[in-house]
Amino acid sequence: MANTYEEVYRQSIEDPEGFWGEIAEDIHWYKKWDTVLDDSNPPFYRWFVGGELNTCYNALDIHVEQGRGDMLALIYDSPVTDTITKYTYAELRDEVATFAGVLSEQGVEKGDRVIIYMPMIPEAAIAMLACARIGAIHSVVFGGFAAKELATRINDAKPKVIVSASCGIERSRIIKYKPLLDEAIELSDTKPEKCIIFQRPQETASLVEGRDSDWTTLMASAEPVDCVPVAATDPLYILYTSGTTGEPKGVVRDNGGHAVALKWSMKAIYNIDEGDVWWTASDVGWVVGHSYIVYGPLLKGCTTIMFEGKPVGTPDAGVFWRIIAEHKVKCMFTAPTAYRAIKREDPRAELIKDYDLSHFEILFLAGERSDPDTIQWSERNLDVPVIDNYWQTETGWATAANCMGLHHFPVKYGSVTKAAPGSDVRVLDPNGHALEPGKIGALVVKLPLPPGTLLTLYNADWRFREAYMEEFPGFYKTGDAGYIDEDGYIYIMARTDDIINVAGHRLSTGAIEEVLADHPDVAECAVVGVADKLKGEVPVGFLVLNAGIDRDPQEIIAEVIQMVRDRIGPVVSFKKATVVERLPKTRSGKTLRGTIRKIANNQEYSVPATIGNPAILGEMAEALEKIGLAKARTD
Ligand code: COA
Ligand code: AMP
Repeated sequence: MANTYEEVYRQSIEDPEGFWGEIAEDIHWYKKWDTVLDDSNPPFYRWFVGGELNTCYNALDIHVEQGRGDMLALIYDSPVTDTITKYTYAELRDEVATFAGVLSEQGVEKGDRVIIYMPMIPEAAIAMLACARIGAIHSVVFGGFAAKELATRINDAKPKVIVSASCGIERSRIIKYKPLLDEAIELSDTKPEKCIIFQRPQETASLVEGRDSDWTTLMASAEPVDCVPVAATDPLYILYTSGTTGEPKGVVRDNGGHAVALKWSMKAIYNIDEGDVWWTASDVGWVVGHSYIVYGPLLKGCTTIMFEGKPVGTPDAGVFWRIIAEHKVKCMFTAPTAYRAIKREDPRAELIKDYDLSHFEILFLAGERSDPDTIQWSERNLDVPVIDNYWQTETGWATAANCMGLHHFPVKYGSVTKAAPGSDVRVLDPNGHALEPGKIGALVVKLPLPPGTLLTLYNADWRFREAYMEEFPGFYKTGDAGYIDEDGYIYIMARTDDIINVAGHRLSTGAIEEVLADHPDVAECAVVGVADKLKGEVPVGFLVLNAGIDRDPQEIIAEVIQMVRDRIGPVVSFKKATVVERLPKTRSGKTLRGTIRKIANNQEYSVPATIGNPAILGEMAEALEKIGLAKARTD
């Protein structure tokens, strides 16, 4: 007999309209949809066409109206400021309604964009939900990005208003956000009409007269506003993510499909019920933060924890256990790198012994490959299932998972288990032919994608087609290579493009190369990802200098490292580069990045038939050995 997962999965693929139509009944609609799935204009599929709803209403007001106003909606736990603040659903609804009033008074209307550049404080979630309340489109920019990256997003999204804070706190370091914001606005061609700044006690930012206002002052006099019905297909947010160039892609998410899929995923995938305490340790600037710090848990009516800190050093490697015990967390979600950091600091998990984790049921990991060692360490020390799940900014929720609310499959280390309901995952060869089990190829999802996935790229329908839809007609290209075994278990092996994953943060080596190439002494360059014990991968740069440069190469390396920090942000963790005489290239002049990556990772490589001068490979290995990376080969 088929288990629940198999039954549900089959239904979702064979009859997506029936399947999602039924699930959508769990959401409050002002007006019910006319069509569950409009497939008249592929690859631009639309869910719940004709329907009207409000995401904020479904995340907050409905719970208050149904008598759960006193239940905790959000717990802000910030070891870096020594603060714990709790909001009930009624309190959070009131804050959000008032801030929605602030936005309206600042001229924000339905369809206007609002950029949110904030640290992990409740005001970030309040600003997101306030946008949803009035039908404005938010675009949250991760705080670890530098001014130039923020400027690129301002130029693309053209926000009417930017909401920010005076500072973030990285361990004990104050990161002033306001100078970064001012610089970004200076750099951008489009200027926001207004900025709203939340002044934190740790830092007071100076405000630009006529443009900037103080959050608290505006809140004190604003009138709360009600939820505005929006079309199911109206955008809820734009979230920029790394593409293959320095130009980030603005992933557009709708209101209807998103609310339906996320609410359902809380039980089906994460086995979370209304009233449970759920914790995602990530950042609201990433998709994991959008979906599972803010929207998913609130739509479901849970208590969500917002954590401002690091897994280690705030104050120690026991902080995760303290939070799980203190707030009685049922399940938590984070990136494997967080657990690698704890494992490194406290390998025998001595600090767990101080806490009562009896309420804790499941640890979920995603965002990068989960190495078996980290999973097994966590299983051993927490004594709960440790469940990997695979997805992307584009998909918004899991494409593959062990769906714990449907059926708990045995874990196979190295696998993300099975395709999630709604996602028909396949593996194709370069000609688009299906590969047999066990063979590695391009991981794709048959169209249509399920609700809650990307509508398009903001202002770039052509790029949406080109990046995801053209190479394998009828399928969405994930950009990952992988395979599916005889039992239907999916394995994610590597990206097929130049995206790397640094501590769960998605970055483009192409974007880093663009910065290096801008240094006046650099003739050409290459950046590849190199395996790192803590962060999974880190970028390493190879620089070829202009002829006649006789400066100390170490100075140039220090300068490019600083440039990457200033232009993209510290989050890139670009700390290693080396100067080489030349880069290995094909006879037609294409840099052999794949081969460089293999050399840098000490992997076996064959000398490509197309290479112009094979001796260069030996030179690369020698250069890498000097910075402690690869071992030079003599053959
Ligand atoms: N604002 C400003 N700076 C930020 C920032 C933010 N929001 N987030 C990170 N940075 C800075 C850090 O201070 C650090 O700067 P440094 O080079 O001066 O030390 C740099 O960006 C890299 O940050 P991070 O990736 O957090 O590395 P770390 O060495 O400080 O900590 C880990 C390592 C593993 C503890 C950390 O990466 C972590 O907690 N990861 C959890 C995974 C996660 O949340 N992933 C998100 C996707 S699910
Ligand atoms: P992001 O868009 O930042 O969520 O990054 C998405 C990318 O991270 C995917 O395309 C994968 O390359 C990688 N990724 C996410 N989750 C996993 C996982 N569970 N296992 C392996 N890789 C993952």
